[in-house]
Amino acid sequence: MERNLEEIFQAKIDKEEKIEPKDWMPDAYRKTLIRQISQHAHSEIVGMLPEGNWITRAPTLRRKVALMAKVQDEAGHGLYLYSAAETLGIDRDTMFDQLHTGKAKYSSIFNYPTLSWADIGSIGWLVDGAAIMNQVPLCRCSYGPYARAMVRVCKEESFHQRQGFEILLNLSKGSKEQKEMLQESVNRWWWPAMMMFGPGDADSPNSQQSMKWKIKRFTNDELRQKFVDVCYEQAKVLNVTLPDPDIKWNEERGHYDFGEINWDEFWNVVKGNGPCNKERLEARNKAWDEGAWVRDAAMAHAEKRANRKNKKVA
Ligand SMILES: [Fe+2]
Ligand SMILES: [Fe+2]
Repeated sequence: MERNLEEIFQAKIDKEEKIEPKDWMPDAYRKTLIRQISQHAHSEIVGMLPEGNWITRAPTLRRKVALMAKVQDEAGHGLYLYSAAETLGIDRDTMFDQLHTGKAKYSSIFNYPTLSWADIGSIGWLVDGAAIMNQVPLCRCSYGPYARAMVRVCKEESFHQRQGFEILLNLSKGSKEQKEMLQESVNRWWWPAMMMFGPGDADSPNSQQSMKWKIKRFTNDELRQKFVDVCYEQAKVLNVTLPDPDIKWNEERGHYDFGEINWDEFWNVVKGNGPCNKERLEARNKAWDEGAWVRDAAMAHAEKRANRKNKKVA
């Protein structure tokens, strides 16, 4: 019976049909998606922190408005994704608890600090840029609610990427100090952005299963390669040097070769020892605690409305 169900399930996926919440699915598929979608949601939420840090210091009103809109979009992404994860049977309080107790992971990139205004540009260009590479194929993910959430998310991500690129483009046409600020920022963000695609294929044992289930469409290394190819050309427009002496066009492969990633740094940040891991978790917990009255008030209001409706019916 189980085997039969599993065959029907895989056949559906092979035909590019979506799996919906009430459809039968293997436990491992459900678990993989809960982990992936909730981690993705947490990343959107924690991702607001490094940029929120610069809203009050944005150099012009226009920049401030754009940055506020961008940070707000990330909050929305978190909410769509928590909703998508809930369709798989996990509830939101459990996910919040996993985040606030440090049990759940989120993208390590957000454990790096934003030290200059140029960092807001670099985040848009490189971090949202890498996110787009990862997320566009997720619009075709086999799980319907996740795929549909990603369609809107990706449209907004492309605005984020442009907003960052434009900040950097302006700096690249500015004073000597502005150009230095731009280069210094790209130097710090390049490698962490490269790590956003996760470990190399040889060290990513679950990738093959995710590809078979069509949760993933490309491997980590394939996505990373696309990212390098795109960024190298864009860096020329910005007049910045990517901090990798080994980047070189490879005629035979039709791609840019690039240098070795420092995986010790990656694992160290994943384990909680990055520059801002502790700070991010504290900020999230503080926001959660300080927002308790808002949640309580919203619940009380909902209850009042429900009571009023019931009275009318009676
Ligand atoms: Fe986002
Ligand atoms: Fe974004």
